[in-house]
Amino acid sequence: MKRECLDIVRDKCEKCRACALGKTRQNMVFSDGNPQSAKVVLIGEAPGEMEDECGRPFVGRAGQLLNSFLEEAGISRDYDLYIVNTVKCRPPENRVPTDEEKSVCRKFLEAQIDIINPRAIILCGATALKSFVETDKKRTISKLRGQWMSITIDGKEYPAMAIFHPSYLLRTHSMEEGSPRRLMQQDLKEIKSRFLYDSDYSAFSSKELVTA
Ligand code: URA
Repeated sequence: MKRECLDIVRDKCEKCRACALGKTRQNMVFSDGNPQSAKVVLIGEAPGEMEDECGRPFVGRAGQLLNSFLEEAGISRDYDLYIVNTVKCRPPENRVPTDEEKSVCRKFLEAQIDIINPRAIILCGATALKSFVETDKKRTISKLRGQWMSITIDGKEYPAMAIFHPSYLLRTHSMEEGSPRRLMQQDLKEIKSRFLYDSDYSAFSSKELVTA
């Protein structure tokens, strides 16, 4: 049932030329993961060159690094997650998608989230964070990552956590306590223990969540 509903959304995305990205893309990048088993939706920024070539999110260098962090945390990319981006088409030169591009694509993202109905959402990187949470100089990804927040999408509340984007982690290699890579490990461990151990799963009470 989920697959059939997602196929309808996919078909609309394939046909979409509502912003300029639809004209320059090679492939529309819809999602990765198993819609039936996924318990958590991970939202990245936008497809890059490799993703545009393959039509799958997070398959380039950043994707490979993400895979290794997921593997180490014991999170299965193929079973536990449903992976999407804020936009479905590659911005030229891998620039950050504009607010307009994100807003044009938002209805498709919201439809995917509604169909998957995840236990929680991971906002991977600053672009995904800013798409759902008010940010400013004091509320940056470095400050907000690792905290459970409550976000509302299409009238429905979801627990959400921001994590660093793997492209950022490609530029920083330290594994010291408190380093970005160590914080990434810590955040994925928290997501795993809170939402991906079936026997332990218990939804948050809304009092436990910071309102975004
Ligand atoms: N970076 C993203 O944010 N998404 C991808 O799909 C690939 C790289």
